[in-house]
Amino acid sequence: MQKVLILDFGGQYNQLIARRVRENHVYCEVRSYRMTLEEIRAFDPIGIIFTGGPHSVYLPDAPKPAAGIFSLGIPILGICYGCQLMAELLGGRVMPAESSTAREFGKTLTSFDRTCPLFRSLSEESVTWMSHGDYIASLPQGFRVCAKSASCPTVGICSESLHLYGVQFHPEVNHTVEGQQLLKSFLYSVCGAVGDWTMADYRTRAIASLREQVGDGRVLLALSGGVDSSVAAALLAEAVGNRLSCVFVDHGLLRLNEGDAVEAAFSSRSLNFIRVNAEGRFLRRLAGITDPERKRKTIGEEFIRVFEEESRKLGSVDFLAQGTIYPDVIESGAGSAAVIKSHHNVGGLPESIGFMGILEPLRMLFKDEVRELGRELGLPESLVSRQPFPGPGLGIRVIGPVTKRKLQLLRQADAVFQDEMVKAGLAGSCSQYFAAMTNMRSVGVMGDGRSYDYAVVLRCVQTSDFMTADWVPLPSELLDRVSTRIVNEIPGINRVFYDITSKPPATVEYE
Ligand code: XMP
Repeated sequence: MQKVLILDFGGQYNQLIARRVRENHVYCEVRSYRMTLEEIRAFDPIGIIFTGGPHSVYLPDAPKPAAGIFSLGIPILGICYGCQLMAELLGGRVMPAESSTAREFGKTLTSFDRTCPLFRSLSEESVTWMSHGDYIASLPQGFRVCAKSASCPTVGICSESLHLYGVQFHPEVNHTVEGQQLLKSFLYSVCGAVGDWTMADYRTRAIASLREQVGDGRVLLALSGGVDSSVAAALLAEAVGNRLSCVFVDHGLLRLNEGDAVEAAFSSRSLNFIRVNAEGRFLRRLAGITDPERKRKTIGEEFIRVFEEESRKLGSVDFLAQGTIYPDVIESGAGSAAVIKSHHNVGGLPESIGFMGILEPLRMLFKDEVRELGRELGLPESLVSRQPFPGPGLGIRVIGPVTKRKLQLLRQADAVFQDEMVKAGLAGSCSQYFAAMTNMRSVGVMGDGRSYDYAVVLRCVQTSDFMTADWVPLPSELLDRVSTRIVNEIPGINRVFYDITSKPPATVEYE
């Protein structure tokens, strides 16, 4: 399989570059710029991409790739800092831009020389997205300018004979109108990609490699019913069959019919699917707890306890499997971008369970790819296209004390909201939407009588990374339908709110 190497110089969009390359059906990995020449040769990429980064190439602490990288004969595309790095290291000159000359931030009309293979299939002019304070003042020998803007004379540089290309803008972001086309040209016209990265191939290779790793050992997976662990389960089931045991802890904090849907998807597969109905013990532990952090901790601890009990019943296991995906790996510092957070995808699973190794079969996949693999493995669309759902489940969507009654009401209200969103054709276009149960009751009038019932709140957000999120102005007719249905169909709820707060200052979840 062909591979592209993305050398990480600390840019913000490195994951996005990797996703764009993969969307072009070319496998790639993000690695630190510190990779040695031997490691690069062993990786054997068909092309290399230098990412952007926050440094200035002419300062002493500027990160640089292994010396000799330009002589490998492997095509290289430098983006922003990566482009300047290429120019500087090969004998050109990079300087701080004066605001009157080449300093550019944001959308910039750029013209392309279409004799350069990068731009052959692009328009003569289109908008690119820039973010640079330095610029290339003089080119290395053998290079020519192949793109420019009104204020920057060296937006694109190339040396076709050396297979080296650089652009000052970010082709990976959506604001660069023809960015995806440019990356495609680099991959296919310059690097000779054939597009051999497909989920069907990945499935075959992953299964073979899991079989080799596991041998005749036994594997244990904590199945939450979320996309990642579900796809990991389906893949492992195909690889090792009934030597896989999946423990699915139904903590009673799942959405309507969710536990049954997970069970239905897995009980027919040849694996040991163990559903533990633990609602009673979770609700007993949660009784009277109102503090959000204590709730989360209590749910987490009880989860571990149930999981430990079940794994003890199973006897010895050789491997613990988990659904870690590539963004977790990158964010934990696989490249050289600042470590944002260290992920522990195992969700605090107990170390007291002895096992020989950890299996992470989705470690190299992005979320979209995980979903595609799930479809490839025949998982139902309802599981594969699920929205994110927090581990503590409805426990943190019931504000204040968690009771069976509040949970029952919330499940029904949430199902109505989900149903109407699907009917309105909006389900796929919003990042996350759900109902939550407030901790308030209020007076209403129903028929001729007075009611004193619960209020639910609807939340719908749009986000690309969940670090920030915008509330979505859903059509008022839709909100009206949802509200009417909830109040009419669910005795016990007499009021519906819509949350119009973004994150920050609010968070997506309520607790
Ligand atoms: P917040 O509320 O932090 O949520 O704005 C951001 C995203 O993370 C999800 N979330 C969780 N996911 N375990 C999870 O697996 C959790 O404890 C948890 N808390 C929040 C939330 O649903 C949203 O998508």
